[in-house]
Amino acid sequence: PKVIALVVAAGSGSRMGKDMPKQYLPLGGKTVLRHCLETFRRHPRISGVRVVINDSLRDLYESAVAGLDLLPPVAGGQRRQDSVRAGLESLAAEAPDLVLIHDAARPFIDAATIDRTIDTLAAHDGALVAVPVVDTLKRGAQDGTDMFSGATVDRNGLWRAQTPQGFRYQPLLAAHRQAASGPEMTDDAAVAEAAGMKVALVLGHENNFKITAPADLERAERLMSEQME
Ligand code: C5P
Repeated sequence: PKVIALVVAAGSGSRMGKDMPKQYLPLGGKTVLRHCLETFRRHPRISGVRVVINDSLRDLYESAVAGLDLLPPVAGGQRRQDSVRAGLESLAAEAPDLVLIHDAARPFIDAATIDRTIDTLAAHDGALVAVPVVDTLKRGAQDGTDMFSGATVDRNGLWRAQTPQGFRYQPLLAAHRQAASGPEMTDDAAVAEAAGMKVALVLGHENNFKITAPADLERAERLMSEQME
């Protein structure tokens, strides 16, 4: 099958508290964004990589990807799901069979996980990389200014969704068009499920975390230097 990786990098990253979105911050001598692009680009089963960007940050994008052979970027939208939809619409001319959607803010995606995701799509509409929840989960209950442990949520059977999330291209595009005017969905598996697609879980790795807060960038730097040893 023809597989294209669609990397969403159009977010503002406001939780990072930096003046630059997290995907353009430096990590191990390159930008956060570039790490996943190199991994997808050198993967033998991926035929093309397209990034969805915030068009007002095109200069940052251009310097982040210098020298990489990518499809031209496209502009994203207000919400993550709008960015994904714009990316999917832009791929019509490429006519991929499968599309893998990945967060630019997950630099530690590895080739084996990409392989497992593509393999899973041989038999299923969708494939979602996820890890089992290991912590005990609490529902917070506000009382005055204090927060209390209101209830313990059974973690049995719960997974944390990561990316990539892979799908057959045409049904996913249709699902995103259908969901466009509805309530916000924070991942593509939710969009796909709402359209009746069945999404299989693919076991991911804890290292494939999303850089969201400053502490995540420190963790990423540590992991990066361990990997380079
Ligand atoms: O904000 P969050 O961490 O959930 O974003 C996940 C990914 O989606 C990031 O790589 C971010 O750049 C991207 N995104 C986007 N367009 C938006 C919001 C987020 O491409 N409007």
